[in-house]
Amino acid sequence: MSTSILDTGIKVVRNVGGFTVGRGSLDHLPQFVEARRTVVGGQSQVVYLIDSYFTKHTELINRLGVRDGDVVQFVDATHEPTTDGIDAITAQIRKQTAGLPATIVGVGGGTTMDTAKAVANLLTNDGAAADYQGWDLVKVPGVHKIAVPTISGTGSEATRTCVMTNTKSGLKLGMNSDYTVFDQMVLDPDLTATVPRNQYFYTGMDAYIHCIEALAGSYRNAVGDAYSRETVKLCQQVFLAEDMMSVQAREQLMVASYLGGCAIATSYVGVVHPFSAGLSVVLGLHHCIANCIALNALAEFYPAEHAEFRLMLEKQKVSLPSGVCANLSDDQYNRLVAATVVHAKPLTNALGENFRDILTDERVIDIFRRM
Ligand SMILES: [Fe+2]
Repeated sequence: MSTSILDTGIKVVRNVGGFTVGRGSLDHLPQFVEARRTVVGGQSQVVYLIDSYFTKHTELINRLGVRDGDVVQFVDATHEPTTDGIDAITAQIRKQTAGLPATIVGVGGGTTMDTAKAVANLLTNDGAAADYQGWDLVKVPGVHKIAVPTISGTGSEATRTCVMTNTKSGLKLGMNSDYTVFDQMVLDPDLTATVPRNQYFYTGMDAYIHCIEALAGSYRNAVGDAYSRETVKLCQQVFLAEDMMSVQAREQLMVASYLGGCAIATSYVGVVHPFSAGLSVVLGLHHCIANCIALNALAEFYPAEHAEFRLMLEKQKVSLPSGVCANLSDDQYNRLVAATVVHAKPLTNALGENFRDILTDERVIDIFRRM
């Protein structure tokens, strides 16, 4: 049976307002920023949220168009965002700004970009980050925001969510809202030249995994499929090439990340992301490496893609950690099961409504034991 865009549960999809792409495109950022200052009144402050990696690489900061009075705040990406962490940064920004900033520029990977999105929403909406975890709970538009990704794959630059873990409940869920989508983005492949190879691979695979899951699912539509197919094609070109980090490959992966983000805004993931979420919630593994570990153990659900993934690992000489779920306690295994099967929508997309008949507790634990 074919599915139309109307019966997939996806309503209206908002895309990023505008973007520039290509080597050196970071040089356009100061113009974007100045244009925003003009719109809201010349003296307006701009907030820069920057991955703390760049505290030691200040040459980048000199190119961002920072003026006296602007706020430059570094984001520690050691851990993925939590609701308390987002609230703390929002409070800090409120203290340092007089009125709303002209724009928020997020410079970094998924963690930094998601932080920029969440803070932008909270500056105009009352309450705390946890109040907005869910779908369409953000009441009014957030502050204007610009994405400058410095690693490719998560698609955060394109999506309508900002993933964060609720400090109290452990719930990992973002603010899914049209207001979460960036207004502008700068895709400059020069910015990913210094990413460590393993991290570059794991993060890039997030885009690939989003799209192989979407294409294998049953909630499908022509737009999502088109984004997904092109993303997978670009990822194959990148990760099956001799050098996944050549200038051309880095540009291709940057585009794949964006298109992969558009793909998940119009479709659903499948079995890999729920298992990956289990690893993140219970064992604290980062999203992208957790995805790779999960896919590596899920050949039975994605045989062709698993084989291709293994080939990519081999071709790029990237290794995966193993034994991450060895010798866990019964309680930990039970929590892994709970944190996986809670993702009913993607699991239904992949396996049907009765996915628990397939993913029994024993089978889920058996899969985790293989990781
Ligand atoms: Fe992902």
